[in-house]
Amino acid sequence: MVCLGNICRSPMADGLLRAKVAQESLDIEVDSAGTSGYHVGDTPDPRMRATAKSMGVNIDDLTSRQFVQADYDRFDVIYAMDESNRDNMFRLARNEEDKQKVKLILNEIYPGENMSVPDPYYGGDQGFIDVFNMLDEATSKIISDIKG
Ligand code: 4NP
Repeated sequence: MVCLGNICRSPMADGLLRAKVAQESLDIEVDSAGTSGYHVGDTPDPRMRATAKSMGVNIDDLTSRQFVQADYDRFDVIYAMDESNRDNMFRLARNEEDKQKVKLILNEIYPGENMSVPDPYYGGDQGFIDVFNMLDEATSKIISDIKG
């Protein structure tokens, strides 16, 4: 799960998918990163943590890290929150196989529409609730597709 800062959208996506993977007893590694290094080492934004907690998901223990080229070797699927994050990751891709791993997460629920999970950082509380709901739906779809 990848966004820009790895303190709002991608840790929320990470926490949701982790919780669902655990609930289904699936053997899948879930992680998140930011394409920027602005917040490396930081815990998720307090507003995202509060929204997560109010919805029953705890993301307090996650810490921001920067996306690195080696992530292409470590993961089979890499979800970008928006096209800018995707383009940033494409710049680190070594070949077509790397690029094929990168998907826009909202295409899971709105196929082919290339919609963005809006960055909530500079907005109000509703933005964090909207992010939670979009990612809750998208991560449930990911799980149901894996289960088949
Ligand atoms: P995120 O939100 O990409 O969802 O973690 C942001 C957090 C911080 C900044 C940008 C986006 N920032 O520029 O500091």
